[in-house]
Amino acid sequence: MDNFIFQNTTRLIFGKGMIAELPKQIPAGKRVLVTFGGGSVKKNGVYDQVITNLKGYEITEFWGIEPNPAIETLRKAIALGKEKNVDYVLAVGGGSVIDGSKLITAGLLYEGDAWDLVKKGYSANTIPLGTILTLPATGSEMNNGAVISRYETQEKYAFFSNFPQFSILAPETTFTLPDFQISCGLADSFVHVMEQYMTFPAQSRVMDRWAEGLLSTLVEIAPKIKEDKKNYDLMADFMLTATMALNDFISMGVTTDWATHMIGHELTALHGITHGQTLAIVLPGTLRVLKDQKKEKLVQYGERVWGITIGNMSERADLAIRKTEDFFHNLGLATRLSDVNVGEDTIKEIERRFNERKVAYGEKNNVNGTLAAEILRACL
Ligand code: NZQ
Ligand code: ZN
Repeated sequence: MDNFIFQNTTRLIFGKGMIAELPKQIPAGKRVLVTFGGGSVKKNGVYDQVITNLKGYEITEFWGIEPNPAIETLRKAIALGKEKNVDYVLAVGGGSVIDGSKLITAGLLYEGDAWDLVKKGYSANTIPLGTILTLPATGSEMNNGAVISRYETQEKYAFFSNFPQFSILAPETTFTLPDFQISCGLADSFVHVMEQYMTFPAQSRVMDRWAEGLLSTLVEIAPKIKEDKKNYDLMADFMLTATMALNDFISMGVTTDWATHMIGHELTALHGITHGQTLAIVLPGTLRVLKDQKKEKLVQYGERVWGITIGNMSERADLAIRKTEDFFHNLGLATRLSDVNVGEDTIKEIERRFNERKVAYGEKNNVNGTLAAEILRACL
């Protein structure tokens, strides 16, 4: 196990009716910028609960943070927040609203264009952020990451700032989610665990077992959720699993991968494909191409998550990869680029971008432009 320093400063507030905790979380007298997406919170009663619980605060609403939040939109929120002199941001929605709000909290204290901060990759100079999550998927509610897009240039980059001070997770807020968003959320959570787990073997028993516990939970609940998406206990397990999948708890002292995500971000930037959907396509391709590099861990995963106990190492690894692709397929997601009409032109463009940026991802830092193209061809 490698050395590490762990600190996660988000207060997690979880359960039925917990939006009522809001007034205890935001200090009295704060001028709050409340950020939203496109309006789902008006249909499921979350908006009304938020407004009821924010009586007594001076609030400014900002609407319209879109899926894959865009700098073009966030600049407007930052300008509004500066005009109103806000000193707290409350994000209400999915990962996109929360991610966008992370950039807003930094942009409010920055004189220049907030895109500078995205290009730099981080800014810890922020005003405080609280969140109310309505979509289990990204883990943004309990981490310090965000992913920001620029539509003008079809770019999408990670940006790091501070952890939310608190996040309220009330599973009943998920009951209005469309099936596709649930599937993408399940796939995203699954791949977050895989990015931190499917690397080298024997680094940490405890990280392995935690990761396998989260993966097994997703495998168990996914088909049940597809049948019964308004089941509180199932959605509660899903919500907590999604949070635990990307809040640094399973990456202590271990090497991580993230190649699938970085390739997936390019597919979103170029074609607008939903994040979880990109991962369901790219992860099986990554595993097929890097099967030898990841073989030992694939066999461990196959046995502990999928119960694969027969066959030689190579056969077991192949079956584990097939089971993974089947899992995504059974969620109703596409698992091939051809299913989403993406072909060679895009592969060449992603290869070109990775080469131009001189990047290489994965636990061995070997997923450069050439290998990314090979992975994408294995997804056709
Ligand atoms: O905009 P509204 O009207 O609210 O509708 C949203 C949106 O259309 C809808 N939705 C959310 N909660 C709902 C609901 N509809 C009905 N009922 C509810 N309870 O769902 C749609 C998608 O929302 P979005 O926030 O875009 O989804 P998600 O949470 O999957 O976030 C995706 C973004 O997060 C980034 C992705 O790249 C993408 O930009 N990620 C952020 C990460 C992080 N911060 O750590 C890590 C992830 O790997 C990921 O990259
Ligand atoms: Zn993700």
